[in-house]
Amino acid sequence: MNREYSIAVLAGDGIGPEVMREALRVLDAVETKYGFGTQREERPVGGAGIEACGKALPDDTLKACESADAILFGSVGGPQWDSLPPDERPERAALLPLRKHFDLYANLRPGVCLRELTEASPLKNQLIEGGIDILCIRELTGGMYFGEPKFYGERNGELIALDTMIYHRREIERIAHIAFQAAQERSGRLCSVDKANVLSSSVLWRKVFTELAGQYPKVQLTHMYVDNAAMQLVRNPQQFDVLVTENTFGDILTDEMAMVCGSLGTLPSASLGARGERTFGLYEPSGGSAPDIAGKGIANPIAQILSLAMLLRFSLREIAAADAVEHAVRSVISDGFRTKDLATGAANERIVTTAEMGEAIAAAI
Ligand code: IPM
Ligand code: MG
Repeated sequence: MNREYSIAVLAGDGIGPEVMREALRVLDAVETKYGFGTQREERPVGGAGIEACGKALPDDTLKACESADAILFGSVGGPQWDSLPPDERPERAALLPLRKHFDLYANLRPGVCLRELTEASPLKNQLIEGGIDILCIRELTGGMYFGEPKFYGERNGELIALDTMIYHRREIERIAHIAFQAAQERSGRLCSVDKANVLSSSVLWRKVFTELAGQYPKVQLTHMYVDNAAMQLVRNPQQFDVLVTENTFGDILTDEMAMVCGSLGTLPSASLGARGERTFGLYEPSGGSAPDIAGKGIANPIAQILSLAMLLRFSLREIAAADAVEHAVRSVISDGFRTKDLATGAANERIVTTAEMGEAIAAAI
């Protein structure tokens, strides 16, 4: 076999392992069909890392990621670990260091609501007739998540907590180029979301975007305040094509976008950096570990499977395989297969388990 890749598989906690199983099943199917192979290095991360090695991001897990072509990530966190000190929790001690370590600054989250799934959206159907197709680009290694100083503790006898929202020009420039290029490849409409009426970091954000717009004459750049964007996403989501925003705003808006598109369980993501000639990336569902439904066989594996498709597209450059995965997902949806989160009670629906959904998608490859 001439095309052989290595993937670090980090299923993590909650529904992570069960949806990961389905993504790997789909990977088996595309490998057979398109004639390539993957070496899969499965490693514990998050709460599973704490249980296995006393650390949310065990050294050996990080090493496996370093020697891989890409990381397929499940989800981390759960109530068992919520009482740990804030900086030891799985979310902060596993996922954020991975993003930072590999400089995965560009987070692509496609918010797609297929025509067949408009019923699953909580919005009135006339608002989203024909479906939704938004690409949200979230800056992922700057802003409040990583800004220093960061502090939690006592000062002068009182408990205080501090986060710092900071952006450097170069951080904004590099995500802006990603966003302008993405808009250029789509409809040419780019909406940059900030809070420039209040935050200095947003004033700089807007200034850099406005300056760079000159280099992309085919892109029509608009700006929107984040509170308005949150409102517009439920008022008229179809006005958006490419959205770009800083780390924290992107976190919030993409959960909203996912729900508007029908379910958190369908939204994949790619967190990209640059390393060598191929794009290195971490691919994960945008939703969380959903501990409340873990182990019940009802979790929707589609976000994990579509994250695999993004991995095939961006890191492995197996474009035909990526297209096939996305096509298979669309076809089982149009055949009526629905996990519980997508059920609307429509006549042609077939409510299936996590594994049945994975099997159906693998069979459609
Ligand atoms: C996300 C998640 C993470 C984030 C958490 C788990 C740290 O909510 O990827 O959107 O806040 O970035
Ligand atoms: Mg989030």
